[in-house]
Amino acid sequence: MKLAPSILSADFSRLYDHAREVEAEADRFHWDVMDAHFVPNLTFGPPVVNALRKRLDAPFDIHLMIDDPIEYAPRFVVRPDDTITFHVESDCAPPDAIDVIRGLPARVGISMRPGTPLERIAPYLDRVDHVLVMSVEPGFGGQTFLPAALERIRALRTLLDNRPVEIAVDGGIGPDNARAVIDAGADILVAGSAVFGQSGPAAAARRLRRAATDG
Ligand code: DX5
Ligand code: ZN
Repeated sequence: MKLAPSILSADFSRLYDHAREVEAEADRFHWDVMDAHFVPNLTFGPPVVNALRKRLDAPFDIHLMIDDPIEYAPRFVVRPDDTITFHVESDCAPPDAIDVIRGLPARVGISMRPGTPLERIAPYLDRVDHVLVMSVEPGFGGQTFLPAALERIRALRTLLDNRPVEIAVDGGIGPDNARAVIDAGADILVAGSAVFGQSGPAAAARRLRRAATDG
C-alpha cells in the first residue's frame, strides 16, 4: 500500500518544515485545491503548490475540487510522476480534462463525490491512471469515514478488471479503518488528520502504515 499524507491538515504557518517531517514516510503528498464554488471551502492553488513542488521530493497528488479544471490544471508546474485529479461533477467534459492533464505531462486522476454513481466514471477508466474514491463529502478535513466507501472500492475493483489503474481513498482514514480500506482493494490511503493532525506526524504515519498492513 502507499500512503499519501494530506497537506490540508498541515500547519500552514510552516508548510515546508511540516511536510519535511513526514516526507520519509510519504509515498506521495496529497494537495486539496478548493475554489469555494465546487466545495464550500477555499485552500491553496498553483502558487503555493508550485513553490513546494520545487523543494519536496515525493510525487504530488493534486486533488482539484474546483469548477474549472481545464483552466487551472495547466497552471501547476508538475513532474511526469505527479498526478492531477479532477472531479467528474466539475464543469468540464471529462475527455477534455483528461487530454489537458495528460499533455502537461502528468498522470491523470478522476474522482467523484460519495453520492455519484460509479457509472459516471466508467467510460473513462481506460484513459486514467488513478481513481480517487471519496470516503467523505469533499471540502473539509477531519470528517468521519463513510462506511459505504468500502463497498464502492470493491465495486470499482471489479469494474477495473485488471486495468493498471490505482485506487486511492480519501477522507476519514485512520488506524482503525486503514486495514479494511486496503482489504477492500485500495492501493493508496490519503490521510490528513491521522498524520499532520498528530503531534508526531512521522510516527503517526508509521502507525497508520502498520495498521494498514498488519491489521
Ligand atoms: C477532503 C479532502 C481530503 C482531506 C482528508 O475534501 O479531499 O483530502 O484532507 O482529511 P482527513 O484525512 O482528515 O479526513
Ligand atoms: Zn483530497
